Amino acid sequence: MAMTAKSTITAEAIVDRNLTLEIVRVTENAAIAAAHWRGKGDEKSADRAAVEAMREELGKISVDGRVVIGEGERDEAPMLFIGEEVGIGKGAKVDIAVDPLEGTTLCAKNQHDSLAVLAMAERGGLLHAPDVYMEKIAVGPGYEPGIIDLDRTPTENVEAVAKARGVTVADITVCVLDRPRHAHIIDELREIGASIKLINDGDIAGVIHTTDRDETGIDLYMGTGGAPEGVLAAAALRCVGGQMQGRLVLDNDEKRARATRLGITDHDRKYAVDELASGDVLFAATGVTDGSMLDGVKIRPKHVETSTIVMRSWSKTVRQINARHLRDI
Ligand code: FBP
Repeated sequence: MAMTAKSTITAEAIVDRNLTLEIVRVTENAAIAAAHWRGKGDEKSADRAAVEAMREELGKISVDGRVVIGEGERDEAPMLFIGEEVGIGKGAKVDIAVDPLEGTTLCAKNQHDSLAVLAMAERGGLLHAPDVYMEKIAVGPGYEPGIIDLDRTPTENVEAVAKARGVTVADITVCVLDRPRHAHIIDELREIGASIKLINDGDIAGVIHTTDRDETGIDLYMGTGGAPEGVLAAAALRCVGGQMQGRLVLDNDEKRARATRLGITDHDRKYAVDELASGDVLFAATGVTDGSMLDGVKIRPKHVETSTIVMRSWSKTVRQINARHLRDI
């Protein structure tokens, strides 16, 4: 699949377009490493394998990169920590957000939709989100700006999307993380007769599903999940023209202090998608386990197959790359 809509180009192209293929190698490598741990019930080993493989491949790409969303602060994460310099040190100055294994539990249980994920933007293009929760709402492309709003009720948001699609609320499907904190959203959506796709984990995939509703059947994503995951998901939505809002959940002094250290002064701010990920943005995700948009890694006797989606905001190009890797596995 390769789709472009250059009429909607807004940001200036700064990032070398060949980087799209380079970042695919990065998420492919992380996914292959994690795939060996699928179903083994060992989240930590799966995550560590993905982190090491991603870091090794990131060291080869032609950028002067720095990690802005990674495995944690320098003192808590030995690799891919916030501020770590990656790439060959030459080329475009870029910021990088990584989640080498999104959905560690999904991988450990060999359940759908664990991914290796990376987003890249020109310096300053990605919100330096602390590792706290973020309230999120997202919808795919093709709607008038402002169709969704975090400060409206689930009912109001669903009704707006149903009206724009010319369908009833019963035809709308909302993806929600299955958590007790979302009971009020789930109850309200059930009351109005909307359909809910409950997921156990992995809200980057949850948000990305809205980018291709014809394929996934998902119109909207709603709920609270990780803030770093919110920035990565926003990068994907930027590439296809979807809309998203996110608001950090800074409910104690320690979290507020962490946000402040990262340069966030307005703690109640409602971020739009292009404030979470701005300028020329690249996004890649490779399936670790099978999912509704991407196949998981297939380990064959003599080769490995991967399935990756890679997108770029400047050109709005979306590529799905199915690769066969001949290698020692
Ligand atoms: P991990 O890959 O770090 O396990 O995160 C999985 C995830 O489901 C994210 O996709 C989501 O944003 C977050 O956890 C939700 O957090 P919680 O499990 O605390 O509700």
